[in-house]
Amino acid sequence: MKIKVENPNNLKKKTAMLCGFVLEDSDKILGFENVDSKINPSIKQSIKDMSGIFGKILVIPTPGIPPQRILLAGLGKKEKFNNDTIRFVSGKIAQKARELKLKEFSIIPPPNSVIESISSVSQIVEGCKMSLYKFDKYKSKKENSIPDLSILISKSEKILKAIRIAEIVADGAVYTKSIGNLPPNQCMPATLANFAKIISKKNNMKCNIISKNELRKKGFGGITAVGQGSKNEPKLIILEHNRGSRNEKPIVLVGKAVTFDTGGISLKPGEKMDEMKFDKCGGCTVIGIMKAVSELKLPINIVGIIPSVENMPGGESYRPGDIIKLYSGKTAEILNTDAEGRLILADALSYGEKQYSPKAIIDFATLTGACIIALGTNIAGMISNNDKLSQKIVKSSKKTTEEVWELPLNDDYMDMVKSDVADMKNVGIGRAAGTITAAAFLKNAIKDTPWAHIDIAGVAWTQVGTKEKPYNPKGATGFGVRLILDYLQNT
Ligand code: BES
Ligand code: MN
Ligand code: ZN
Repeated sequence: MKIKVENPNNLKKKTAMLCGFVLEDSDKILGFENVDSKINPSIKQSIKDMSGIFGKILVIPTPGIPPQRILLAGLGKKEKFNNDTIRFVSGKIAQKARELKLKEFSIIPPPNSVIESISSVSQIVEGCKMSLYKFDKYKSKKENSIPDLSILISKSEKILKAIRIAEIVADGAVYTKSIGNLPPNQCMPATLANFAKIISKKNNMKCNIISKNELRKKGFGGITAVGQGSKNEPKLIILEHNRGSRNEKPIVLVGKAVTFDTGGISLKPGEKMDEMKFDKCGGCTVIGIMKAVSELKLPINIVGIIPSVENMPGGESYRPGDIIKLYSGKTAEILNTDAEGRLILADALSYGEKQYSPKAIIDFATLTGACIIALGTNIAGMISNNDKLSQKIVKSSKKTTEEVWELPLNDDYMDMVKSDVADMKNVGIGRAAGTITAAAFLKNAIKDTPWAHIDIAGVAWTQVGTKEKPYNPKGATGFGVRLILDYLQNT
């Protein structure tokens, strides 16, 4: 999708479809007021009739004027406006343009009095780009081709920059979705490692892949234990983006990438087990973020660490009862091989802290079913040891509308993962506070680095109860990419 900015000349604009936003119960197209009198009366009637209901789209033919059609897009009530309104509605517009097989379409952003123009153009770009992604790699019949977009707004450096950033951010989210959606027979740990190599070469990042033997030698006991049941060997993927000053501490991002989670010897029930192909989504989020930060050339140091394994049952698998030694040197008693994510993450967190002495560590993981019980499928769980860090993430969450909710973690929860026979056990006490006890296990992996853990079990892909959004079609959502890119741009 090519995106152009053109100074507004609305009714003179030669375009297949001129698209404008309409507030509820208004008879005006926003940003179009000054040319109202020139719009023919039947169009005025159509604006009144569609009444600006949120998400509603009306396409009207316009004989006699240069735009071939006008599209009216309802924004709903002004009081209900939020940081997702324009993104959501723009997505609907773009999908309509594709449905009509258009080669291009044009959008008039609302005026500054309704929404600040930087935010509005960013949302338009993100909404359109993300909504036109569809996972059709394995379909014989592909979607219609993607139309180009003209945004009709007075050109300025600021606007052009905002659009360029939004394009990269949206591309990052789409990339994360596209690798997150890959089936488990086509995406193994080595495949993800390969993707990381490819993006690192394109954008000048350092990429280091640690393979099975070296992992064992270096003491990554969690990653090797979980990975030993599969013939698809584990990989630890490390991407470095070094554009800050030499002695500036980096921010470390860690992402769980279990390319398929059967549960291992503690086998999961069959129902919906296919969805465990999405158990790699935390890692995919980190890869997508790293791709975007390198394209944005952010002037900071950022490290992405992605432990990747396949959790399979078999003669070589780790078992309930095993005691393993993690990278931190602490021992863990395995009580359930399906609580594998915390084991591979613990290794990656300890490694990140030891190797990089980072300013902050943020991890993403489809870690617990309990997170879905607690918060549902539209809000991610967050657990942190540092209020400043978690508050910054909440702020970015409000801006990007990728929602997170913080849960507590005090010493009582830490006690719940203590083992009788090892330093820790990989499950808590029964099912109580499952999301928090998983985080308690992770907290043992780091010393005192500011850390935030984001459990994306409910939000990483569309499930029962997921709010429908044009930019989140069925499958992986890329949750966290926009959130953390906002955070990183504001640190
Ligand atoms: N990947 C799953 C968590 C999960 C389950 C995410 C369903 C999204 C939907 C994780 O590895 C897991 O199996 N966790 C167990 C932990 C339990 C054994 C302590 C869980 O949540 O049941
Ligand atoms: Mn599991
Ligand atoms: Zn898992």
